[in-house]
Amino acid sequence: MGTARVKLATLCYCLFSFLAAEAKFPSPPPLKVGFYQDKCPSAESIVRRTVHKFVAKSPGFAPGLVRMYFHDCFVRGCDASVLLDSLPGAPAEKDSPANNPSLRGFEVIDEAKARLESICPSTVSCSDILTFAARDASLIAGGINYAVPSGRRDGRVSLIDDIPQNLPPPNFNADQLKENFARKGLTLDEMVTLSGAHSFGVSHCSSFADRLYGFNATHPQDPSLDPLFASFLKQRCPRTVGGASDPTVMMDLITPNRLDNAFYVNLERRRGLFGSDQMLYDSELTRRVVEENARRAGVWGKKFGKAMVKMGAIEVLTGRQGEIRRKCNVVN
Ligand code: HEM
Ligand SMILES: *[C@@H]1O[C@H](CO)[C@@H](O)[C@H](O)[C@H]1NC(C)=O
Repeated sequence: MGTARVKLATLCYCLFSFLAAEAKFPSPPPLKVGFYQDKCPSAESIVRRTVHKFVAKSPGFAPGLVRMYFHDCFVRGCDASVLLDSLPGAPAEKDSPANNPSLRGFEVIDEAKARLESICPSTVSCSDILTFAARDASLIAGGINYAVPSGRRDGRVSLIDDIPQNLPPPNFNADQLKENFARKGLTLDEMVTLSGAHSFGVSHCSSFADRLYGFNATHPQDPSLDPLFASFLKQRCPRTVGGASDPTVMMDLITPNRLDNAFYVNLERRRGLFGSDQMLYDSELTRRVVEENARRAGVWGKKFGKAMVKMGAIEVLTGRQGEIRRKCNVVN
């Protein structure tokens, strides 16, 4: 009788402390599709309309937004840290050479944010706006549609020094790329599949000039590059790059504004722009996935959408973590 009462008391106490702990430190909720359905029902359609408007004006906004999402998610997770302005004495991600001057699409996010603040103030995070915008860009430019979970919150930190250890440079080999993506929880297949984004948009000559003029001591030109393609690139990118002028070259010459599987076909023809791209075909580790993606456009498109969703869940802030920024370029 006495022990039964003690047991009951213990049980009640345990239950109480468990519930109290849950209330004080609830584990952050997961992302979910349709997060804004009640809070701001037109959130996704407003972002979509804004992206449409900008891409209709200039198709380069679509690749710009997809790349911006990659650069956000790989550095401190998808928390819109890439959108924050530098502070005096504290340069932000935005001003890293990997982002400045090549990253584009900030005005799309700012306009969508301004519209959303006017109808549902302090409700839709900048990280979700960027998430929707990258999805919409993939649909507009590639016909790739996917439902994307939301409920992200915005971070309050952005540091230029986070870039080198998180974003892969264009001279990485297949093993280094594999390792870099694995640290973000992404598989080899997902790494190759997401790289298909290099089928639209542009690159500055400075990102691959070493393949044309200064490969190594014995080979001034990268022997993995198709010589015909190399001479075309040399015309577009004279030796003098790195100075004031840094022209751009289309990532895919055939369908430059189309997000499609042409990237993989180009690799098979030794026409990858970056060493890190060509490596995906030249390495045993990844060649099979390149060949599959080159053959089967539809399968690649579906995998691309899935991989974007997975990338979009990297180290996200949810629940009461972070904040809902009022303006995407500054913390509240
Ligand atoms: C695998 C490792 C990757 C490397 C080393 C890499 C590197 C680069 C470089 C150097 C550029 C050219 C920047 C410039 O000079 O203007 C570029 C452009 C681009 N990247 Fe990547 N990237 C990688 C993966 C990705 C991923 C995963 C995505 C998205 C899913 C992506 C999307 C893009 C897009 C769309 C562009 C064109 C941007 C524009 O036209 O504004 N990249 N990338
Ligand atoms: C230069 O690159 C080629 C092709 O990758 C390689 O075979 C050669 O050994 C390299 N030479 C030096 C000096 O690194």
